[in-house]
Amino acid sequence: MFGFWAQVSYTDVVSLVHMSKVIKICRGKSCLRAAPPLEQAAEERIRQLHAEDVVKVEACGCLGKCKQGPNIIVENDGRSVTHRGVSPRTIVQRVDELAGKKPVIEPGNAQRSVNDLLKGGF
Ligand code: FES
Repeated sequence: MFGFWAQVSYTDVVSLVHMSKVIKICRGKSCLRAAPPLEQAAEERIRQLHAEDVVKVEACGCLGKCKQGPNIIVENDGRSVTHRGVSPRTIVQRVDELAGKKPVIEPGNAQRSVNDLLKGGF
């Protein structure tokens, strides 16, 4: 009955927790409408990269930054960073980073991307 757990040490469990790469998408009232496209973009990119065992997507409650939403938390091996005003394109970049891929910005779109970022979205 305890065969598997008898072989797992406390250190193994702590290592697994700290090695996690998770994108938490706010499902609070202000971010709720934007959450499904973000979740869809993240899940699709994870499938494209075959990173289902590396990067997870979860829902979370209000992060207290509602006016700057939609917001996400990126947890990378125990480090947690909140990102505000996230678009489907930027969440794909976060997935790429967590999966060990460099963000892809085509040369022709580089200036447009910077301008869009300065405006607060894509
Ligand atoms: S509802 Fe998303 S930060 Fe408050």
